Amino acid sequence: MASARSTTAAVSQSAQDAAHTTSIATSSFLDRASAWYRDNKIAAWTIAGVTVVVAGGTVYYLSTSPRPPKVSELDKQSKRERRKAIKKDVPKTVETEESRADTKAGAPQTASVTEEAPEELPQVTEQSVGSLSDQDRNNYAAKLKAAGNKAYGSKDYNKAIDLYGQAILCKPDPVFYSNRAACWNAMSNWEKVIEDTTAAISLDPEYVKALNRRANAYEQDGQYSEALLDYTASCIIDQFRNESSAQAVERLLKKVAETKAKAIMEGKEKKLPSPTFVSNYLQSFRAQPLPAGLEETADLEENTGKWYMRKGLQAIQQRTSEGYDEASAAFDSALSSGNLESHEGLAYNMRGTFRYLKGDNDSALTDLNKSLDLDPALVQSYVKRASMHLEQNKRDDAAKDFELAMEHNANDPDIFYHRAQLHFILSEFSAAATDYQKSIDLDPAFIFSHIQLGVTQYKMGSIASSMATFRRCIKNFGEKSDVYNYYGELLLDQQKYSEAVEKFDTAVEMERKSVGERGGMNVLPLINKALALFQWRQDFSAAEELCQKALIIDPECDIAVATMAQLLLQQGKVTQALEYFQRAAELSRTEGEVVNALSYAEATRTQLDVQEKYPQLAARLQGMGAAGMGGMR
Ligand SMILES: *[C@@H]1O[C@H](CO)[C@@H](O)[C@H](O)[C@H]1NC(C)=O
Ligand SMILES: *[C@@H]1O[C@H](CO)[C@@H](O)[C@H](O)[C@H]1NC(C)=O
Ligand SMILES: *[C@@H]1O[C@H](CO)[C@@H](O)[C@H](O)[C@H]1NC(C)=O
Repeated sequence: MASARSTTAAVSQSAQDAAHTTSIATSSFLDRASAWYRDNKIAAWTIAGVTVVVAGGTVYYLSTSPRPPKVSELDKQSKRERRKAIKKDVPKTVETEESRADTKAGAPQTASVTEEAPEELPQVTEQSVGSLSDQDRNNYAAKLKAAGNKAYGSKDYNKAIDLYGQAILCKPDPVFYSNRAACWNAMSNWEKVIEDTTAAISLDPEYVKALNRRANAYEQDGQYSEALLDYTASCIIDQFRNESSAQAVERLLKKVAETKAKAIMEGKEKKLPSPTFVSNYLQSFRAQPLPAGLEETADLEENTGKWYMRKGLQAIQQRTSEGYDEASAAFDSALSSGNLESHEGLAYNMRGTFRYLKGDNDSALTDLNKSLDLDPALVQSYVKRASMHLEQNKRDDAAKDFELAMEHNANDPDIFYHRAQLHFILSEFSAAATDYQKSIDLDPAFIFSHIQLGVTQYKMGSIASSMATFRRCIKNFGEKSDVYNYYGELLLDQQKYSEAVEKFDTAVEMERKSVGERGGMNVLPLINKALALFQWRQDFSAAEELCQKALIIDPECDIAVATMAQLLLQQGKVTQALEYFQRAAELSRTEGEVVNALSYAEATRTQLDVQEKYPQLAARLQGMGAAGMGGMR
């Protein structure tokens, strides 16, 4: 089946994008942010066979050349064409419903109004209409409508409304309702617009102009989901040829997602994200030994500030959900117990770090500021503050923090590593490579500067250097699962499937072995393997199974949840996909990420709504997508 194949090709391409927007860049918060940026630049997959492209945080549908209409549509289309032709040839004839075909710019069309004398205009009431013959009704309806159009043209909306109302009494025609809706529209009476367009649409479910008009009224009235559904239906009927409707879909998806994201953010409990996320963030800073005075061997009185500090720093090493919760509580207690002496700055730094991870960014910033007041030599605080500034899109503040950090210690390798991450996010790859290299020169033992350097070289198109960097990494850091995981991702990007899977397997095996030592397991290699199997062999069931495994280990891993959602969507399991997208939104940490996940969720939900309310359109969309797919990317 040729069409199925081309769909699959596009799908795997998009899954590939997804792979790279998720895990390559998850080794730190900054990496996560870069995932988010890249995610927004481009991520495409199919919904009901139509490619959905996400760009700039919004989603829109795309289809290349629409395919020739099916036989059942042909009738209708050719009839419409015929209507148009008739209209053009015989402009003086009073048309009733046909005139809609070439109505311009949303106004009821007036071109076909015949030169009737006004006194000939019939007066129709609910009582009188009953006694009219069918022919009279048609006749009157046409005259009343024409007069209504004229009144509309001269902006006499109340008169036009009255005339269309009489025309409707004679004959319930969708055009009359839609034209009357145009009057209400001009008067900004959205409720009435919705009422009349709904009547028009129930008479003609594919009346695009009425759909667009109702969509606009819904939007004006703040009913964004309803507007989104109408614009989507209108796009499908028009086969995505109307640019402004397609843009409306994009705009509404964004509005719906943003509105819902606000509600989610407000109701969000401040708690730590998944251990995979926390580990990735914490390990983006070089590990430090327990500071002097807090060593294992130091004799510390129980429940004192210093005792809590040590407890917290040790709990982090467990790399588990429980360990991180324990650490977070310990840093809180450390500060409330006091008597921290020289460790107070670090205590604020750590409490701020955990507050930040919990999404409590304002109090996190306050803590980091306090930490810097107390201990300006703790350059890590500047670096962490820079990452918070960056997340709030305050790039200048972030850059300034790096400068301040340099003033205190121009040779701290963490500074260069994180400044490199900033360059990377901004796609300044050559500056990023320079900073990663500088970080390596200062401290070659930190694995992530090597990995990120390799990824950056790859981004710059130096595939050979990148592969060489990774081979060196394996030689020097062969015991670290991360090397294999990221190497695998780049191999996957080159469609070297079996090599990629082999690397992911190695990473998974290493993670599994290390579980005994430190409890937590990084689930990214499992998710990557899922994507690889899916791309390689379209093996949905193996891919799903791996994602499920990841979710058993780390139930709150938003990347695993989002990957599941995509796998389900690509199998047409739309209802389940929606649940997973929704869950991904709930698990996301920042508002931007929530909006992103919700854009997918809402696009999926709209597809379900279309299926339910416009089954005939959903069927057509399916057909359209299969043909439109090939040339997409
Ligand atoms: C395209 O759609 C918009 C509403 O989204 C509508 O106002 C406009 O008239 C449509 N254009 C055509 C050519 O149908
Ligand atoms: C933290 O310090 C920075 C730089 O001095 C300042 O801009 C910011 O407002 C402070 N934030 C808080 C929450 O105190
Ligand atoms: C936290 O940061 C986000 C951006 O990530 C921002 O929108 C929000 O206003 C900040 N403050 C709070 C209290 O969430």
